[in-house]
Amino acid sequence: MFYLVGLGLGDAKDITVRGLEIVKKCNKVLLEAYTSILTVGQEVLEAFYGRPVIIADRELCESNIDDILKEAIHTDVALLVVGDPLGATTHTDMLLRAKQLGVETEVVHNASIINAVSCCGLQLYNFGETVSIPYWTETWKPSSFFDKIVGNFSRNLHTLCLLDIKVKEPTEESLTKKIRQYMNPKFMTVSEASSQLLQIIEARQNSNITKSTLVVGLSRIGSPDQKIVARSLGEMQNYDLGPPLQSLVIPAPVLHPLELDYIRHYSVS
Ligand SMILES: C[S@@+](CC[C@H](N)C(=O)[O-])C[C@H]1O[C@@H](n2cnc3c(N)ncnc32)[C@H](O)[C@@H]1O
Repeated sequence: MFYLVGLGLGDAKDITVRGLEIVKKCNKVLLEAYTSILTVGQEVLEAFYGRPVIIADRELCESNIDDILKEAIHTDVALLVVGDPLGATTHTDMLLRAKQLGVETEVVHNASIINAVSCCGLQLYNFGETVSIPYWTETWKPSSFFDKIVGNFSRNLHTLCLLDIKVKEPTEESLTKKIRQYMNPKFMTVSEASSQLLQIIEARQNSNITKSTLVVGLSRIGSPDQKIVARSLGEMQNYDLGPPLQSLVIPAPVLHPLELDYIRHYSVS
């Protein structure tokens, strides 16, 4: 059996009872470590589970997943995913691949940033399409995600923006010279995301979303030191929300009175 087990957002103890039972009985337990990170490290998880956990990087999850799935034909293998296992497309692909290989699968759900975002007071029912904001490079500055934010905004819907994570990314040099070299891990901040959005707004010059638009920054949601801050997009560019992970929300232009009441607590004015 191949188990996909959600770990939730906060710490080791957020795993469900069913998830923990599976972790304890499996022959092999892997921790997916490139679509999200937990505020606690591998050692804390191993101590809590009382067993070793193998780190599964992008290469293993994308290129070598068939080997893991084939093992799961005869033994029990669990892949632990921070948040909900189906909160990122990668794991849906894995389930499809497992079906093609005839491997039985089971998913254990858990809290995800996709639902925990409501901690800022914005109602889940009023969210539109979620977007991902990628890190720009000198030569690659995509802005198609902004059209989706504008689409949500014009239909009076909120947008959850998930921010780029770069873990074990090959350096440009290693791609051309075929040597194994990786960049230092980096996690996009709310401030960096706001800066990219402001550059798009400036280039387009006719957006309903401006530097005065209210946005909400979220960091380390689900952990004891989580932060929620409501500011204008212009102010958010200079706001430091501390260590990762972080997400940015662009609320709808007209909020429900309850949403407004709640969100006021996170704003300075
Ligand atoms: C690809 S998504 C993975 C979603 C994860 N599987 C889940 O269900 O929550 C990763 C992005 O979600 C956001 N995120 C995940 N956990 C978060 C948290 N605890 N607080 C704030 N943002 C978070 C960040 O923007 C991060 O880069």
